This record gives sequence, C-alpha cells and structure tokens, in this order.
Amino acid sequence: MSSEGVDKSRRRFLTVATSVVGAVGAVYTAVPFVLSMEPSARAQAAGAPVEADISKLEPGQLMRVKWRGKPVWIVRRTKAMLDALPTLDGMLRDPKSEEPQQPPYAKNEYRSIKPEILVLVGICTHLGCSPTYRPDVAPDDLGPQWKGGFFCPCHGSRFDLAGRVFKGVPAQLNLVVPPYRFLSDTRILVGDDKGVA
Ligand code: FES
Repeated sequence: MSSEGVDKSRRRFLTVATSVVGAVGAVYTAVPFVLSMEPSARAQAAGAPVEADISKLEPGQLMRVKWRGKPVWIVRRTKAMLDALPTLDGMLRDPKSEEPQQPPYAKNEYRSIKPEILVLVGICTHLGCSPTYRPDVAPDDLGPQWKGGFFCPCHGSRFDLAGRVFKGVPAQLNLVVPPYRFLSDTRILVGDDKGVA
C-alpha cells in the first residue's frame, strides 16, 4: 500500500467521524436554540431594543423596563401632570432642554413624542442612583411647591414629571430620554427610533 493510499483512507475515516459528531451536535443544539427565541439577556445588555406593552398602564402610573442594563421608566401622565409642567419653568435649571439629554424629537415642552407618555432613563444625572417616583402633590417631605416628579434619595436631587432638574440640587442635567418609537398605540420600542422625525 502506498503512503498516498493510507492518507486517503484515514482522511475518509476522519470525514465520517466528523459528520457523525456534527449530526449529534445538531440534535443537542436544537433545544437551546428553540428556548432562546426571545432576545437573550446578553443581547439586551449589548443594546438590543426592548419592547414595552403599555396597554395596562393607568394614568399616573409608572412602569419599568430594562434596556442596556439600565432602568427605563415609562409614565402615563395625566392632564393635571401635563398642565403643571409649564408652571415650573422658573425653578428649573434647563427648562427648555437645551442640553443634549434627549433625542431631537423629545426636545419639546413635554420631552416626549406623545405628551401623555414619558420615557426616561431612570438614573440620576448626579452620581447614578435611581430616583424615586413621587407623583404625589405637596407631600410633607418635599414641600408645598412639589407638583409630582422624581426625587433622588442619595443626595436630594429633584426632577419634575418631564425629568427636568430643579435649580439648587446636586444634579446639573435633566434625566436622559432614550431613543424610542411607538410600534402601535400600546407598544413602545425602547432603544430604536428608526423613522422618528
Ligand atoms: S446620585 Fe442622585 S442626588 Fe446624587
């Protein structure tokens, strides 16, 4: 037998063995693939958009989703909440959202695409704590001027119900509005704003 013949038969054996392993591997990997149809936690951490169903969000309520490992708040604001916003302008550091803390389509008086739906990254712009949602008006601990907003327990920063920061607190910037778009009246995609003007 020539050395060439040995090589060929060995190669054939290796090819067959590899095919069998490949087939077995395919059977075993099929199961985890089916189980991972939802975007994986790793994909979401890397920045995959996250869909939020807001159909059950009542007026005045806040819901949370996680995007890129960060909390994102969605609030359905009431008419009273929206009406209170312009009355606060004189007490705010950046009432007109001049700082680049939001996409262009949220640079308006409500800092949102639809006035009643607020979407914010729930991280304090001071040192990164997560502020508390305080929709109550004039509570004892926040004072008679309080018309609802977000209070950061770490060092006392205050934000209104558009995420705008008050003067005289440690945080210097408004809360961040993430990119987002509406897929329908009841579904929001956070982290993707393709086609939003
Ligand atoms: S981290 Fe929010 S006030 Fe300091």
